[in-house]
Amino acid sequence: METARATGGREVAEPGKHQTGGIVLIGFMGTGKTAVGWRLARALGVPFVDTDALIEKKAAARIPEIFEQQGESGFRAIEKAVIRSLADGVRRVVATGGGAVLDPDNFAVLRSLGPVIHLKAPAETVLARTRGDSGVRPLLAGNDPLERIRSLQRERAPVYGRADHEIDTSRHTIEETVGMVKTWAESEERVIRVDLGPDSYDIVIGPEVLDRLGQRMKSFDLTGRALVVTHPGIAERYGGRTTDSLRAAGFEPDLVEVPEGEAQKSLPWAEKLYDAMLDHGMDRRSPVIALGGGVIGDLAGFAAATFLRGVPFIQVPTSLLAQVDASVGGKVAVDHRRGKNLIGAFYQPLLVLASLDTLDSLPDRELRAGMAEVIKYGVIADPGLFAYIEGRLDDILKRDRGVLAHLVARSCEIKAEVVAGDEREQGRRAILNFGHTMGHAIETQTGMLHGEAVAIGMVYAARVAERMEMLDGESVRRLIELVRRTGLPDRCDGLDVPATIETMKFDKKSVGGRPRFILPGRIGKVAVRDDVPAEYIRSVLATGN
Ligand SMILES: NC(=O)c1ccc[n+]([C@@H]2O[C@H](COP(=O)([O-])OP(=O)(O)OC[C@H]3O[C@@H](n4cnc5c(N)ncnc54)[C@H](O)[C@@H]3O)[C@@H](O)[C@H]2O)c1
Ligand SMILES: [Zn+2]
Repeated sequence: METARATGGREVAEPGKHQTGGIVLIGFMGTGKTAVGWRLARALGVPFVDTDALIEKKAAARIPEIFEQQGESGFRAIEKAVIRSLADGVRRVVATGGGAVLDPDNFAVLRSLGPVIHLKAPAETVLARTRGDSGVRPLLAGNDPLERIRSLQRERAPVYGRADHEIDTSRHTIEETVGMVKTWAESEERVIRVDLGPDSYDIVIGPEVLDRLGQRMKSFDLTGRALVVTHPGIAERYGGRTTDSLRAAGFEPDLVEVPEGEAQKSLPWAEKLYDAMLDHGMDRRSPVIALGGGVIGDLAGFAAATFLRGVPFIQVPTSLLAQVDASVGGKVAVDHRRGKNLIGAFYQPLLVLASLDTLDSLPDRELRAGMAEVIKYGVIADPGLFAYIEGRLDDILKRDRGVLAHLVARSCEIKAEVVAGDEREQGRRAILNFGHTMGHAIETQTGMLHGEAVAIGMVYAARVAERMEMLDGESVRRLIELVRRTGLPDRCDGLDVPATIETMKFDKKSVGGRPRFILPGRIGKVAVRDDVPAEYIRSVLATGN
């Protein structure tokens, strides 16, 4: 987030739900949820929970006894509490009781834990697998169990039908089913809708979605000429796949290589892109595709927003920072010699395609810098995400695709939600600037990477919040620890403090020369404050405390 104009007042926001990147198995009794669930958990190296087992533990009674003593409603109440308790940020495989998903609140919690997979089987298979279980399966009591199973299956079909994927377990062994779920979950595309009325668009996240770019673009009303804007190094790795995919879908792509670096985010380079569009014979329905990090996204987006008063724009972000932040939200800009992002527009893309495999070649330092923004989302909106990063940092730094998929998806979800509530940055969008008020000034003063400066900015904001008695010391310690473990700086010694404060005053997000701070009240919740004593800022910039 580069610019922000906050409105007055104190705003406390807590958007978003938890999503821990686990897997949830739903379905009728006897479809193999438990048998598949624990083997799947072992294969993924995560814990397994069976909600029925948790219920029995909580109630210290077997399920038939709970039904006998408290009725089905008593059982459902315990079930609901148990399911709610699973939204604690831990990634796991969850198998649910067959009726658990009938309650919409339960379904919402389960969906937030990861993809929901419906295991199904024909009534005859269910009967054969559960025969002799009537004592422990209260819902099957009665004299025509097959008919009872059929009628319950009919009743539940619409709810089970809301799952992300389904597998008929009567046709596969348990091991096959485990393999199918695992493969599906790893190759899954996640789609996040950014809801902006007529300007709404999808963010598609997946391991190799780059190869499906052309295919995806066919659903829009576009003419054949397309311009891909990228850097030479990225063109070498991913340019061929991009243009192949476009050609296969009937487009005629041209590719422009812009040299690396922020210096190219400029009007002269925008003009070179206009030339390329004119030379390539592009019209109002010809798309511009940004293939690269935030520099390419901002520059190509700016050119797309202004050429012929706006041509279709598609983001294919390849850096972590661009995937979780720059490509979402519709801000495009070029720099002016007197300041970054001074010439720009709000211009929404038609589509954002985040291909996780492209992160494999991202330099380590850039990956860590991108993580600063992901940590930011945890602090502003989602304690579950924060805990998830703490728990999976090694896998993140090893670029485990499943873990990265979750981080990118959850970050985009949070940003999409905040942006949808405030497209043009009048209010709530300001919370995305957590860590950026001091961070930007430090970035300008020191020339460190944006994410590195933001990491310091977040730590400093947390220290200020602690001094203002908004935030407890334990949360500050957790944030510092996570920043350090990520390999990001948590302080900047030897800063020119007066110059840094001066830079802060001229930041676009300061109002009337008074910097506005986003301060955490706890991990997962922030407030906008413009009453921070200048002394606290001076002191934290000077001493790091
Ligand atoms: N529009 C917005 O909302 C918004 C938000 C945040 C940042 N930004 C802008 O984004 C820019 C920073 O973005 P960035 O951090 O992506 O910087 P960047 O675009 O300069 O990319 C960082 C480096 O990584 C390289 N790179 C990118 N993807 C790669 C890959 N897959 N493999 C190998 N190398 C790869 C790039 O070539 C570059 O050297 C800034 O200009 C900033 O102003 C915009
Ligand atoms: Zn940022």
